[in-house]
Amino acid sequence: MESQDISIKPAATADDLKTAQDLAEVIWHQHYPGIITHKQIRYMLDTGYAAEVLADDISRGVRLCIVCSGKQPIGVLAFGPIGKGCETKLHKLYVLQSFHGQGIGSMLLQHVEDECRRAECTDIHLLVNKHNLKAIRAYERAGLKIRKSCITAIGNGFFMDDFVMGKSLAATG
Ligand SMILES: CC(C)(COP(=O)(O)OP(=O)(O)OC[C@H]1O[C@@H](n2cnc3c(N)ncnc32)[C@H](O)[C@@H]1OP(=O)(O)O)[C@@H](O)C(=O)NCCC(=O)NCCS
Repeated sequence: MESQDISIKPAATADDLKTAQDLAEVIWHQHYPGIITHKQIRYMLDTGYAAEVLADDISRGVRLCIVCSGKQPIGVLAFGPIGKGCETKLHKLYVLQSFHGQGIGSMLLQHVEDECRRAECTDIHLLVNKHNLKAIRAYERAGLKIRKSCITAIGNGFFMDDFVMGKSLAATG
């Protein structure tokens, strides 16, 4: 992968939010069948990616970014809050399947860590479905470790069956 082809741009406009929604729609249907049901995919997209939900995330300090290869949007990245002493959550890391296996996921995780270190955050953590082995491997390659299991009721009878993974920046910085 030519890393100079990949850009990470903050979502700033209503069009950017629509782009994030459209990418999530494609990527979730490519990736999550077999991990969660189609009904749960639909429910989580509707509750997590509505324009007002994304705008509210941004207003609460989450950095929502569109990842592009050249001019083509290929992924979504969201993390925050960012600032001195913050324990930052990685909320979203989604890349179109046709761009997997080229080091883009690793590059995005390095970007999050670099931004967090620059801002003097102390910790990065995230939730990942226990059966999402590709993502777990990507996080482990980036130095995150499984901290605990976590089952969360998300409404309509659906649950998230996750690992909490994390990396202390204070200890390794
Ligand atoms: C998790 C995710 C972002 C990883 O993205 P990615 O761009 O494929 O990640 P990378 O390319 O850095 O690494 C993937 C594999 O390619 C390999 N790889 C990395 N660079 C490579 C290169 N230049 N050439 C060939 N292979 C390479 C890695 O070793 C890795 O192999 P492994 O999975 O067998 O360990 C991606 O799988 C994804 O978007 N999944 C769907 C959404 C999702 O589950 N997100 C996480 C929610 S918690």
